[in-house]
Amino acid sequence: MDKYLILVNKNHKCKDNDFHLSQTNSLYANVFLEEKTYHQFLKLKEYVLKQGYEIDLESGYRSKEEQEKIFQEVEKQKGLDHTLKYVAKPGYSEHQTGLALDFCLKENNQYYVDFAMQNHPVLKLIADVAPDFGFIIRYPNGKENITGYGYEPWHLRYVGYRAKEIANNNLTLEEYLERM
Ligand code: DAL
Ligand code: ZN
Repeated sequence: MDKYLILVNKNHKCKDNDFHLSQTNSLYANVFLEEKTYHQFLKLKEYVLKQGYEIDLESGYRSKEEQEKIFQEVEKQKGLDHTLKYVAKPGYSEHQTGLALDFCLKENNQYYVDFAMQNHPVLKLIADVAPDFGFIIRYPNGKENITGYGYEPWHLRYVGYRAKEIANNNLTLEEYLERM
């Protein structure tokens, strides 16, 4: 099995892996990503910049402890139902692999993260071109019953060259792996 197809979801805990993490130059402190994932993100970022939009890394690799902190903070702010819909329990986040990232958008000297981007055109642009760089929108709209999570247009998952096949067939990673 291709290591970039590793499945982490509500039923598949993040197992130990030998991914090599790189420190990124994100405006946020201490954002790390698996090295190939970072390399490809930089290419995507450059492409998107040429189209007039500036994106950056808001989140990349997370330890189990960091995920636990995020879960608790979101639960405090938005309640358990919302949290279970958008945040993985510690041990079950694919952010723990280093292959997942959340991008943010810089516009008018402000940074916009997750829901603040709303229906911004950059989301459609990235959904269209991300597969060319090896990324899929991991939690697409309308597939909540399969992925277990609500629509997150900002969360990209690196899967490598198979991204185009997955995206062109409108599949989630779960559906793709089942068909293999
Ligand atoms: N937002 C995704 C589901 C995570 O917390 O890993
Ligand atoms: Zn994410």
